[in-house]
Amino acid sequence: MKYAWDESIEIGHPEIDAQHRQLFAAFNEFMGACEEGKGHSEIANTMEFLGEYVIRHFTDEERVQQENHYPDYYKHKRYHDEFKIMIISLKSDFKLEGPTAEVISRIQSSIGDWLVNHIKIEDMKIGEYLRAREKFQKEIQERRASENETRQVLTPG
Ligand SMILES: [Fe+2]
Repeated sequence: MKYAWDESIEIGHPEIDAQHRQLFAAFNEFMGACEEGKGHSEIANTMEFLGEYVIRHFTDEERVQQENHYPDYYKHKRYHDEFKIMIISLKSDFKLEGPTAEVISRIQSSIGDWLVNHIKIEDMKIGEYLRAREKFQKEIQERRASENETRQVLTPG
């Protein structure tokens, strides 16, 4: 089963959203190769690409969190780290057992469903935090600007 991307799961950060979209595409590429009964090595390549893209994406997403002092960074990073370990174990299942229906459905539920839920719940929180932070910084800037104006009026010349 493939996953359809839709805007309801955008978190509002263009770089992260573009990568999430790519993740869906990489996952669907893998599922497509399985469903079309492609050869073992071709399926293995799509799985390899998906695994590498997940790591690259997590690194970038964690950087965005750190740059913005995201308070739940360590909790979020732990979810990512656990997921990376799961991918390693799924890759070894795949290597040992091949693209059997059982392995494919294990990969689908462990990777596909995990990604969708993680984006919907955990990554969405990052988006909310970034919006709140931006709003707060804007308010501070406006307050400073108006304080400066008041100071200028009070101390003429
Ligand atoms: Fe994440």
